[in-house]
Amino acid sequence: MAAGASIRVLLATCVLAVGASGCATRPTPSVPLAAAAPADDALYRALGGQAGIEGIVDDLLDVVVEDERINFQFALANIVRLRGMLIAQFCSVSGGPCRYDGLTMEEAHAGRGITTAQFNALVENLIRVMERRGVPVAAQNRLLRRLAPMHDDVVGP
Ligand code: HEM
Repeated sequence: MAAGASIRVLLATCVLAVGASGCATRPTPSVPLAAAAPADDALYRALGGQAGIEGIVDDLLDVVVEDERINFQFALANIVRLRGMLIAQFCSVSGGPCRYDGLTMEEAHAGRGITTAQFNALVENLIRVMERRGVPVAAQNRLLRRLAPMHDDVVGP
């Protein structure tokens, strides 16, 4: 299982590193997330609905705080707001009944000097958390594919 998980980390890293170049429907920073909203709520349900997504985000934040590759980035963060925004965003991108009305990914991450290695560390943590919570691999990959186009807006000077 460990080998399987690490292969998927590599796969995810590839998907995310090439960013949206292979994605036909890449949202630009100025396009609201709703524009890229999926047509159905199958992924939302596969993630466990609202309770499942809240659990994923809570676990993710717990892991991130312990991860010395990236926790310094969150030293001044408003974790309560971040939690709420991540839940709304994951719900929205997975086709759930939520609207994400937070900052664009470009606005939220500008000036933080986030690197691709840090981005991939966060993704690795997300995979680990979903794995631990028993989210089916196909659903994990679908969520990762929907987050991948955000790479270029998150990473930067
Ligand atoms: C696909 C990857 C990512 C997604 C979907 C994501 C999502 C978000 C969301 C929804 C917010 C809240 C925006 C708001 O307040 O309106 C946020 C803020 C933030 N993100 Fe990310 N993020 C990602 C990657 C990263 C990475 C890799 C880092 C750093 C290693 C990071 C660091 C932060 C920080 C520091 C904030 C601001 C928190 C605060 O000041 O309260 N994010 N992100």
